[in-house]
Amino acid sequence: MPHNPYLDTIRPYQPGKPIEEVEREYGLHSVIKLASNENPLGPSPEAVRAAGKALTQAALYPDSAAYTLTRKLAEKHGVPSECLVIGTGSDQLFMLLALVLLNPKTNAVISEFTFPTYAIAVHSVGAELRVARAGSGLGHEVDHLLTAVDSATRILFVDNPNNPIGSYLGRSALTRLLDAVPRDTLVVLDEAYYEFVDAPDYVSGLEFLNRYPNLMITRTFSKAYGLAGFRIGYGLADPALVRLIQRVRLPFSVSHLALAAAEAALDDAGHLARTRQLVLSERPRLTALLEKHRIQTLPSQANFVTGVSPVPSRQLFEALLKTGIIIRPLAAMGLPDHVRVTVGLPAQNQSLGKALEAVLG
Ligand SMILES: Cc1ncc(COP(=O)(O)O)c(C=O)c1O
Repeated sequence: MPHNPYLDTIRPYQPGKPIEEVEREYGLHSVIKLASNENPLGPSPEAVRAAGKALTQAALYPDSAAYTLTRKLAEKHGVPSECLVIGTGSDQLFMLLALVLLNPKTNAVISEFTFPTYAIAVHSVGAELRVARAGSGLGHEVDHLLTAVDSATRILFVDNPNNPIGSYLGRSALTRLLDAVPRDTLVVLDEAYYEFVDAPDYVSGLEFLNRYPNLMITRTFSKAYGLAGFRIGYGLADPALVRLIQRVRLPFSVSHLALAAAEAALDDAGHLARTRQLVLSERPRLTALLEKHRIQTLPSQANFVTGVSPVPSRQLFEALLKTGIIIRPLAAMGLPDHVRVTVGLPAQNQSLGKALEAVLG
């Protein structure tokens, strides 16, 4: 089929292996998935209740303007509602940004190890993808990012904390970056893992939104809020950019179930606090467990820990699959020796410990 030739440059996204698939393939029950940085506590019961109630409205199109959620988020973040745009997951916003800002004469910059959807968005519109070398700890390095930016750069994607490493840019690195980036380059600060950070020098880009009209922040309900299956996330940006994004956003893409669930999830501060507490208490335990089994870990501010496997990473992944545990080998993200493990419940992390003992000794 004659098609958009730019698509030939896209490496398809490789998602974490679904639980049902592993149960089918290996004849297992109660498989533990630690592969996609989901919330092991599940969604807020309030969100489930709200979505359940919304089911009766299934015959109606959803509110395309997301009136209630937009206002709730505007209030939460202390910004005018004109600064908000809701997407079917934050990943949809990256695609929309590519449509709005890029074309084959422009480029976008990413760091070497980062969330793969940025590359898909950039390639799909035929723009050049510039990859900046990572720093020594494999995280983002401001100087390398700035070197990659030129007069044709329209987007710089920075996930902070970043996936798949778990590293972050602190206040001074971030301000240095924002000060140095040209005003016609949009800095997209993807804060998907914001809720799991405890580093004292971390700062959300929200603080800088007023100062830099070329800054956009994205957040998601998929991680800390446990709503990955609903596909809902949002962006905060200058109203002029939000209006451009709204021009290409399909009107009813975010379902009324997702809207209802997200609104209720925002009101359930207790669930969010329990989720954060779980990750902050289990993250060091998971790190110690991996280290005990010779998986050399990288410091993480997210709800996962990444490390170098002592045996080929694919082999470790497959051996753990047979025990009913799904982790993520990172070859598709450019790290053939690394694996990434989501922080699970204490019992899940203990099961992982037993499995690692059996597999790695
Ligand atoms: C850095 C980063 N940004 C965004 C996302 C996607 O979030 P969403 O589910 O809102 O599309 C992920 C998901 O893994 C991620 O790791």
